[in-house]
Amino acid sequence: MASHDTSQHRIAFRRATAADAAEVATVYIASRRGAADYLPTVGTDAEIRAFVIDRMVPERETWVAEVSGRIVAVMVLDGDMVDQFYVFPADQRRGVGDRMLAYAKQLRPARLRLYAFQRNTPARRFYEARGFIAKEFTDGATNMEREPDVLYEWTP
Ligand SMILES: CC(C)(COP(=O)(O)OP(=O)(O)OC[C@H]1O[C@@H](n2cnc3c(N)ncnc32)[C@H](O)[C@@H]1OP(=O)(O)O)[C@@H](O)C(=O)NCCC(=O)NCCS
Repeated sequence: MASHDTSQHRIAFRRATAADAAEVATVYIASRRGAADYLPTVGTDAEIRAFVIDRMVPERETWVAEVSGRIVAVMVLDGDMVDQFYVFPADQRRGVGDRMLAYAKQLRPARLRLYAFQRNTPARRFYEARGFIAKEFTDGATNMEREPDVLYEWTP
């Protein structure tokens, strides 16, 4: 486990376990629904919850950020790709995402890449302010949501 002191709180990063899966699902769903203007979502909350608990946490490299024993953010890494990244709505804009992205850069010091929806302006600004460069714009034909996205890349 790695810990970082921030101005407001102590934040710890660790791999998600089966015992975390329900809380991870709650954070994931709340964050997606909270950003619904930017994140078109396929599936009902129950379907997404089942995906997170049965597939994502057991099968993927899922990380959580914890503050005072509460999960405040979730990230899935796959090779050098950030596949999923969600901060709980009430914990956004307090530096949690910044700390977790910095932690991911430590885990993958050579390169990080991710797809963001083109219309997810807040996330794109967040990544661009942290060294990510737009590499490719797609029409969304290959993603589940059929939503145009942009491939970002960070290298040190
Ligand atoms: C995008 C996301 C991961 C960023 O996480 P976050 O915890 O909100 O990020 P931070 O708080 O570190 O930074 C967000 C912004 O708040 C600002 N901020 C940080 N601390 C702040 C504070 N105490 N007061 C006011 N603003 C603050 C940052 O400067 C940053 O601004 P910028 O985006 O213009 O650079 C998060 O907002 C999120 O989960 N969004 C919904 C899901 C999503 O879009 N995921 C990404 C899919 S690709």
